[in-house]
Amino acid sequence: MDLKLNNKNALVCGSTQGIGKATAIALAEEGVNVTLVARNREKLKAVLAELPQHRNHSYIVADFSNPRELQEQVIKFIEKNHGFHIVINNTGGPRSGAILTASLEEFENAFTMHLKCNHVLAQATIPFMKSEGFGRVINVISTSVKEPIPGLGVSNTIRGAIGNWSKTLSVEVGAFGITVNNVLPGFTDTERLAEIIKIKAKNEETTVEAMAETMKNYTPAKRFAQPEETANVITFLASEAASYVNGVNIPVDGGRTKSL
Ligand SMILES: NC(=O)c1ccc[n+]([C@@H]2O[C@H](COP(=O)([O-])OP(=O)(O)OC[C@H]3O[C@@H](n4cnc5c(N)ncnc54)[C@H](OP(=O)(O)O)[C@@H]3O)[C@@H](O)[C@H]2O)c1
Repeated sequence: MDLKLNNKNALVCGSTQGIGKATAIALAEEGVNVTLVARNREKLKAVLAELPQHRNHSYIVADFSNPRELQEQVIKFIEKNHGFHIVINNTGGPRSGAILTASLEEFENAFTMHLKCNHVLAQATIPFMKSEGFGRVINVISTSVKEPIPGLGVSNTIRGAIGNWSKTLSVEVGAFGITVNNVLPGFTDTERLAEIIKIKAKNEETTVEAMAETMKNYTPAKRFAQPEETANVITFLASEAASYVNGVNIPVDGGRTKSL
């Protein structure tokens, strides 16, 4: 299948590790010019050096806790360099914990980091996508948009908001050759998952190894995903080949989600 991604421009957020990094590499391997985004300049430089070098890659140092600054930085980049055909909205997940004990600040921070940042990035990038008659907005969220996950109260709440933001946007921009879709990772072998396993093990007074085994056994695939498996699905959604897929949630969870 020809994904027809050669020489497209992608903004890949949260791309110094985990799913974001795997996505940056997968897109670059398909000939995409990748612009990485995260907070840590040294890590960004290291990932930049890992990308296949036959394209024009770059990075932006930005913090998703400040959406206005992020938007300004991306607009400046676009004015100086080029617009983006593809935006991967992805950043660190909210702190875990029961919903009843969550503070107002935790909800506000998660809303800012996830929903507001997705929104400012869409506003900054969609005009170029419209002018090209091609655009892809892909949000990395969670299976919790379908089934809330115990112990991830703030995350469950905010992911629901993003699901509805994303669906609404997909209807508004569909006529311009732009699609907006959500990828819902299951247990994916990244630093975020390692952190979650540590917390769960502590809460349930067991070892990290035993907790990891329990979580694997809970998944029909009986293993965690590698970030590259998620990145493959994102890459397909970013391609011309996925042009008639719009406004959907796609779990990449080894069959863990029990609902359809
Ligand atoms: N892994 C899983 O099992 C799993 C399951 C379901 C959902 N998810 C969700 O999928 C997304 C990606 O997960 P992951 O496991 O790949 O995460 P991860 O390993 O924690 O990586 C997060 C990335 O986002 C960047 N980032 C974090 N905070 C940021 C900020 N304030 N501003 C800008 N960049 C920031 C990090 O780089 P810097 O620190 O350098 O900024 C890093 O590159 C998260 O929303 C996560 O909750 C993951």
